[in-house]
Amino acid sequence: MNVLILGSGGREHAFSWKIAQSKKLSKLFIAPGNAGTKDFGVNVPIAADDFPSIKKLVLKENITMVVVGPEDPLVKGIYDFFFADKEIAHVTVIGPSAQGAQLEGSKEFSKKFMIKHGIPTAAYASFTKEQLAEGLKYLETIQPPFVLKADGLAAGKGVVILDNVKEAQRELTDMLAHAKFGVASSKVVIEQFLKGIELSVFVLTDGNGYVILPSAKDYKRIGEGDTGLNTGGMGAISPVPFANAEFLKKVEERVVIPTVAGLKKEGIDYKGFIFIGLMNDGGDPQVIEYNVRMGDPETEVVMPRIKSDVLELFEAVGQGKLSEKKIELDDRTCVTVMLVAGGYPGDYEKGKTMTGFENCTGSMLFHAGTKSDGDKVLTNGGRILAISTIAPTMKEALATSFANAEKINYEGKYYRHDIGFDLV
Ligand code: AMP
Ligand code: GLY
Repeated sequence: MNVLILGSGGREHAFSWKIAQSKKLSKLFIAPGNAGTKDFGVNVPIAADDFPSIKKLVLKENITMVVVGPEDPLVKGIYDFFFADKEIAHVTVIGPSAQGAQLEGSKEFSKKFMIKHGIPTAAYASFTKEQLAEGLKYLETIQPPFVLKADGLAAGKGVVILDNVKEAQRELTDMLAHAKFGVASSKVVIEQFLKGIELSVFVLTDGNGYVILPSAKDYKRIGEGDTGLNTGGMGAISPVPFANAEFLKKVEERVVIPTVAGLKKEGIDYKGFIFIGLMNDGGDPQVIEYNVRMGDPETEVVMPRIKSDVLELFEAVGQGKLSEKKIELDDRTCVTVMLVAGGYPGDYEKGKTMTGFENCTGSMLFHAGTKSDGDKVLTNGGRILAISTIAPTMKEALATSFANAEKINYEGKYYRHDIGFDLV
């Protein structure tokens, strides 16, 4: 079959790498892709949310499967766009309907969903601009730390955690009254603070059956020791040592099963990934959030650990036969170390020439923010290259990724040297 991947990051490069190994693949397209994805398919300069151009490409190239990388096209309704159009309704879209994508697109929707279906999550209250006064009072009745979340998509910046009630009240005012995150913060969820260690569990579902993919932990902060500004992720590790079989069984029973059943009960079309952000609170899982796509850089450690043919799994999703499938995993540990631009996640420059790829051995080099310029590879984003290694132990995998991180050169290169520091 001919397959189209939407997106341009490390996640999409890792998807391309994995899908290119499938017996079922005839031709792979990536829109818009990056300097890495072109090794596995044809990059097409179409934005991931340009639905009319995507339709034209799908018809022209006889594409029968679309794998959606980022959340944006999902929240904008790409699944529904295909479903409603006779010419392309036969195409399998891996990703939920717009309604399902609300699990990520609206914090309030996802909190309501969890409470309704008995899924463990932090207690919360939500407030609109008109309810600002109530919200300010509410903050005085609860204990710090205060967790404030913009309801809508805010490019990963919409969660603010504060210790001081006055600061929390100022933040709530900024979000609601001064539209700090635009329309995304026209509603704010205030949530109980959860203690514990974070990890992510990934599920592929056809809305009925499901398979659980490898779990992973990512390192969100820019600075070593998990300090400084939040980023999209500076590295990741899979499996997560503290997520043993007993904990994962609890996740399946208390979270995965009621989530898939809840979607079905509410008549929400969901054929895609569910990314469950969890807190392990003394051995009990609490859901922090849902995302409706795979994580980045988590995909760069999850895909290398899947032995099964992913296109076979995706095809089963399209046919509603996923419950007949089993997933085979590699027991080894996969790690990834993200090279980023100097200044990221603040202002940074693009267009720096990258060298040293040919000197790297033993790792998979997943391009995140890069682009081709003739024979040259240029930096083209904040997060630039995910260096993934699979090995019998985390220590060996990290040593190889760090050694290769030294061999890649571009002006302003930065990466964290302590990925996995908390897991040894
Ligand atoms: P989110 O955008 O919902 O993933 O939140 C971003 C980060 O904020 C999470 O990865 C957590 O580290 C933290 N966070 C969110 N909600 C809570 C909570 N209720 N308690 C503690 N930390 C939280
Ligand atoms: N690495 C976190 C995310 O993809 O949202």
